[in-house]
Parts: sequence; structure tokens; C-alpha cells
Amino acid sequence: MAFLHPHIKTKLPGPKSKRVLALDEKYVSPSYTRSYPLVAKSGRGSFIEDMDGNVFLDFTSGIAVTASGHCHPRVVKAIQEQAAKLIHMSGTDFYYPQQAELAKRLVNLFPGGKGSGKAFLTNSGAESVEAALKLARWVTKRPQIISFLGAFHGRTMGALSVTGSKITQKERFFPLVPGVTHVPYPDPYHTPKGMTPDDYTNFCLDWISERIFKTIVPPSEVAAIIVEPIQGEGGYIVPQNSFFKGLRKICDAHGILLIVDEVQSGIGRTGKMFAIEHTGVTPDIICIAKGIASGLPLGAMIARGSIMHWTTGAHANTFGGNPLACVAATATLDLLDEGMMKNAAKQGEYLMKNLQGMMRRHSEIGDVRGRGLMVGAEIVSDRKRKTRAPKRRNDIVDKAFRKGLLLLGCGPNTIRFAPPLSVTRAEVDMALKIFEACL
Ligand SMILES: Cc1ncc(COP(=O)(O)O)c(C=O)c1O
Repeated sequence: MAFLHPHIKTKLPGPKSKRVLALDEKYVSPSYTRSYPLVAKSGRGSFIEDMDGNVFLDFTSGIAVTASGHCHPRVVKAIQEQAAKLIHMSGTDFYYPQQAELAKRLVNLFPGGKGSGKAFLTNSGAESVEAALKLARWVTKRPQIISFLGAFHGRTMGALSVTGSKITQKERFFPLVPGVTHVPYPDPYHTPKGMTPDDYTNFCLDWISERIFKTIVPPSEVAAIIVEPIQGEGGYIVPQNSFFKGLRKICDAHGILLIVDEVQSGIGRTGKMFAIEHTGVTPDIICIAKGIASGLPLGAMIARGSIMHWTTGAHANTFGGNPLACVAATATLDLLDEGMMKNAAKQGEYLMKNLQGMMRRHSEIGDVRGRGLMVGAEIVSDRKRKTRAPKRRNDIVDKAFRKGLLLLGCGPNTIRFAPPLSVTRAEVDMALKIFEACL
């Protein structure tokens, strides 16, 4: 069934949802971080229907995953047809065309070095990051990694080691993988006192080349710098382009690999295939997952030309590049090429412009930023002092849910807008209206 607008007809959560919530509470790990009790039954395009027939406008895309919308008929058809032919044959031990064909397509998307790289297919973002860290160590024969405060790269031990997001994600999990140094990430909104965004960008670059490399870690022992082009879980923070140019320079000066984690920002979300393309910088390795297969578990670590030459057996997995996920990814990439990526740029601009307009009417919005359909609105209690208001942010997200709009927070006090790339202008208008009613 297709939906045209949100529609809440029961008290939330409704009775059928409540039954699932009780089951979940009894049997599912309590470590998950649900913000509100949405129990999804079906999805179509930008809408989710819950167990009780309530309809929500989904501006989360199941956390930046359903790039082509929920259950796009072409993605569904590709999965159904493939499921009837071959569900699994393990790309580690055997061959099948879907994996090689998708790898070719991904390699051809690599900014700068089109066509000359190789892809390792995974099942998740964390696994793509693990693969990148391992490849960087393997290729450079160096042990150290530089990562950023506020970064989120996943929860497996390697990915968690380079993460610098929330202490609950790390508490009681030490010792992590050694050899990681976290350095500041230049948030242009929250600059240290007296610094302009330019100053802060230079400060962060100097921190690596003048402080860390001269006092803590010799650059000759650093395998890679891993960075998100836009910090996702950290708060949808968009550094200046000069920051990435500076990182590239540092890497080139010392034979260090530049890994960009595009797990959240990649696959058209920002209006370009990869967010790093907005900066003009060519990385050595790109990690992707989330949106690539519109909801099937798939990720990839794509490496530039000469890098991926590790030996047979150095790295592998059982499920990565599963045929069902590969055909879902191919259908998703087709849809992006046929207009959804352009749509992301167009609707994103419209969304951001309108949120910026709203900022003039509501002082509790301190900042609006982003690229394409990766847009964040930071909630503050004092705009002049930029005082973060995390509780108020949570209240707004909860209120939006009760009015039929699914949003999620990121960072301590930011609300993220990450609808499917298929979102229409009418849906953006609906979301804006509900959001403003929550302020
Ligand atoms: C930038 C980034 N990297 C890695 C990950 C981890 O991905 P996954 O949850 O699929 O392991 C995430 C997840 O939010 C992410 O945003």
C-alpha cells in the first residue's frame, strides 16, 4: 500500500506494538538505543506503517539506509528474482557474477582513480572499516592509525578503537586495538574561543603535523588517517574543504593512507556519490555500507589502484557480497543514476534553505548544516553562547514521532534529517511543517 501523508490513529504505542515491545524487552539485548517506541510493520517510499496502522513519514531512512526508499519495486523485484535462483554461495570460496559485477561498478565510482581499484565486499559499516584498517596495516607495514574525536566508525573491536563518539560505547571494552591516536575534528560551529573556522581548521591540521608527529607518534609509523567527510553520529558536522586538502597533504608527505569513512555520507546521500567529492580530495580507501543496498546488509571497502595487493587468505568473510545484497545494490545504483542522486541534491537544498528560514523564527535552532539529504539542526538553549540542549533535542524528536514524523538525534544535541533519496518536495514540506510544530 502506498501512503501520501502521516496518519496517527491510536495512542502511541498502540496495542499491537505494545505486544512486540513486551516481547522485545523480554528477549532482545538491552544494549540497543531506541529513542521512541516505533514498531514497524511495512514500508513504502518515505513512509512506515506501524503494527497498529499508524503511518509515519520516515526522515531517518532506517538510519540512512533505505536510499531508494522503503521497498522500492525495482529493488524488491531484483531480490525476489535472485532469491529464486541463488541465495548464497560464499564469495570467499567460490565465484558468482553478481559480486564481480558490483565490484566493477563500485571501483568505477571511485573518485580520482576511476576503474583502477578493487573492492572487498562486507556485511556492515564496521566490517568495511575493519577491512580498511587491516589493509592499511598490511600495505604500509606500519602499526599506527590517526582518528578523530567525535568520530563513529562502528562497534567491532578495530572500528571501536578508532571511534571517539560516546563513552558508553567503549566503557568496559578495553583493551581495544592499540596504536590509535585521536585528534580534534574542526567543527566550524563550535570553535574554541577566539578562533574562526579557518583558524580551527589550521589548528587541527597543525595538531597532527606539529604536535602529534613531533611528540607522540612518528609519522613513519602511521599507516592511515581515517576520517568521516561529514561526522555522522558525531552530529552531522561538515568541516571546511581545506581540512581535507590539508589531510591529503599530510598523508602525501609521509606515505600515509587516507581512509574516508563514507558509511553514512556515501552512496548519493549528499547529492554526489561520495561526500569527499565535494572537497576535491582523492582518498586512498573508501568505506561504504548503509545505503548501498537499500536495506540489505552490504558494505564495501574500495581501495585505489595499487593498494589492494594483499595475499590470498589475508582477509575474507562468509556472507560479504551475498548475491541478494549485490542485486539490491545494483538496482539501487541504477535508481541513483536515473535521478535519485540529483533529487537528493535538489530536495536537500530545499530542506536546508527552509530549515535555515525556520532558524530565523526559532531561537532554539542554533545551526543548520549539511550537504544534500544529510542535514542537521543543532538545538541550543542560548543561541549566543551556543549552549547545547540535549534534553530539549530529545523532547523534539519524541514530539515529532507522536505527530507522525520519524527523526533521530546525532551528536549531543543535533537532529538529523536523512530521508530516502527518493523523497518528494511535498514530503519535505510535510516534514518541515511537523518539525516546526514541535518547536
Ligand atoms: C560513519 C560510520 N561508520 C561506520 C558505521 C558502522 O556501521 P554498522 O552499524 O553498519 O556497523 C556507522 C554507523 O552508523 C557510521 O555512521
